[in-house]
Amino acid sequence: MQELKDKTAFITGGANGIGLGMAQRFAEAGMNVVIADIRGDHLERAMADLGATGGRLHAIQLDVSDRAGMAAAAAETERVFGKVHLVCNNAGINLFKAMDECDYNDWDWVMGVNLGGVINGVVEFTPRIKAHGEGGHIVNTGSMASIVSGPGAGIYTAAKFAVRGLSECLRYALAPHKIGVSVLCPGLVKSFIYDSDSIRPASLPGESTAAQRAFMEHLPAVHEAGMDPLEVADAVLKGVRNNELYIFPHPEHKDEVRADMEEMLAAFPDKPVPPERLAIEQARQRGKAEAKKLADSLK
Ligand code: NAI
Repeated sequence: MQELKDKTAFITGGANGIGLGMAQRFAEAGMNVVIADIRGDHLERAMADLGATGGRLHAIQLDVSDRAGMAAAAAETERVFGKVHLVCNNAGINLFKAMDECDYNDWDWVMGVNLGGVINGVVEFTPRIKAHGEGGHIVNTGSMASIVSGPGAGIYTAAKFAVRGLSECLRYALAPHKIGVSVLCPGLVKSFIYDSDSIRPASLPGESTAAQRAFMEHLPAVHEAGMDPLEVADAVLKGVRNNELYIFPHPEHKDEVRADMEEMLAAFPDKPVPPERLAIEQARQRGKAEAKKLADSLK
């Protein structure tokens, strides 16, 4: 989607961090911008900060895990600005708890926001973009945890791997409608995500462990060393304009990804495949190559 001026962007988690960075860059590009966030007070502050861009702005208080709320936000966005073209399903939280100590409330909270929020944004906004027929773009915020795993943040990683899978399939599905899809996979960003516990819903209470509390003490300093959200937003802007499937703002993860991919490739058996099975697989791969050609050709 190369022409952004006067088009409308909807961004979840737009009151802080990466979402706020995107809002600033999109407003500077001449877009109408809707920021949606669960934190009403932070929305007010963000609107004041964004005011300097001179952009046309609107704020909506929203819990992305609430399906009815997402439907209402989509309707409100169209009511205020007309057609929506760019949707950034970005709101996210993290839970810094060992996976084996997590209970159902932990799973429901993290999956509900980090995966459910993306699903809800896709389900509510995609038909609206398809309906106006002008094309558009969807950016789902994954993470480097969409590609590589580690000993920590297990539920977060499960959700972010799913966001990547969802985004890749969605890109094929939406290409015939001239809608591009990207998955944004940042590394460490200077953001507010370390404070996620403060917005944990009362309906999904959770006990933090001593190890979790000790780890979390260092998080503000860790995130302070992260990439500036505006630098991430610059990568998003470029990714939207060039219709990139993967938006990787951080170069420092490349060797880790290569090592993981090589480990995966090395795990494949080297033995003959029965011709009937091979033919089925080759037909599927040809279909994928065709779909990919169409998706990658969108401008
Ligand atoms: P942030 O905390 O600065 O901003 C996230 C915003 O999402 C906050 O304003 C928060 O109020 C909002 N939010 C949280 N739960 C919500 C809900 N249920 N409904 C609506 N809004 C909600 O964090 P950051 O880092 O900007 O996070 C944005 C995205 O980037 C997240 O999906 C996160 O997983 C991802 N990410 C962040 C990285 C980092 O190092 N900060 C690294 C990789 C990915």
